[in-house]
Amino acid sequence: MITVKNLYHSYTNDQAYAVKGISFEISKGEVFGFLGPSGAGKSTTQGILTGLLPLQKGDVEVAGYDMHHRKRDMFNKIGVSFEQSNVYNKLSAIENLEFYKKLFDVNTVDPMKLLELVGLDKVAHKKAGTFSKGMKHRLTFVRSMLNNPELWFLDEPTTGLDPAIARQIIEIVKQKKAEGTTVFLTTHNMNIADELCDRVAFIIDGDIKLIDSPRNLKLQFGEKLVVVDHIVNDQKIQDKFSLINKEDLDKLNTIIQTGRIEMMHTKEATLEEIFIKVTGRGLE
Ligand SMILES: Nc1ncnc2c1ncn2[C@@H]1O[C@H](COP(=O)(O)OP(=O)(O)OP(=O)(O)O)[C@@H](O)[C@H]1O
Ligand SMILES: [Mg+2]
Repeated sequence: MITVKNLYHSYTNDQAYAVKGISFEISKGEVFGFLGPSGAGKSTTQGILTGLLPLQKGDVEVAGYDMHHRKRDMFNKIGVSFEQSNVYNKLSAIENLEFYKKLFDVNTVDPMKLLELVGLDKVAHKKAGTFSKGMKHRLTFVRSMLNNPELWFLDEPTTGLDPAIARQIIEIVKQKKAEGTTVFLTTHNMNIADELCDRVAFIIDGDIKLIDSPRNLKLQFGEKLVVVDHIVNDQKIQDKFSLINKEDLDKLNTIIQTGRIEMMHTKEATLEEIFIKVTGRGLE
């Protein structure tokens, strides 16, 4: 569905590249997470893939379209939810959707149904200019669903939203995934990426450090730990033991033999811990 080969992008037309020769492929029906800290080049990449920014150097194919020759009708197939909400403040929520609906040459979804999906149906006739940041964000989000896109670009879909609404958005993405929609998800929220993505790319300073499934990453980089709550001298204590360290394993065995274990479970490394391990950098 997406093929990117040796993509570069410079905003200054010099050797200072915001994206430095990245390559990746996304298959049909896949949810692909693009993860990295601020300034990594995520939105720049999304901009090129969606035709918002010109393709300067490298090869990009999106939904069968060669991005060297951008064509308008590609927009019938894709949906784009931007990091910054961009709605018409003077139009009501429903008018915003009606306006965009007219730009498509394909069947579209009923705007009121979309507003219901994110709890904006009750304010459908209010001007978007009166909306809070979260409401504008939800409007931008559902606008990207108008043409029922087969390829959906989501830039930070849950950032700045309260947890209940963020959860709503995640469930909608899951539903679309189940229907076979391909998703390019940009985020620095590792928990969401872990929950939604089939594969993730770690991007930092315009460069992709690795691409793999969250599961493989955890197997490869995550040190499995056993967390044990047990009683020592009538005191309840918690210890962590590595499953790949012989000394730890011996200690764990000893504790098991005492029969004074209250609770025991394994803990996997989180994607965030793995990101820091692989890139040496945090996500903020
Ligand atoms: N319009 C622009 N003009 C000049 N430089 C830009 C422009 N947009 C982005 N950049 C620079 O390009 C680099 C990549 O930015 P980009 O917005 O792609 O990062 P990002 O990964 O999306 O970050 P964030 O998580 O903050 O959204 C940054 O160094 C940024 O300062
Ligand atoms: Mg960005």
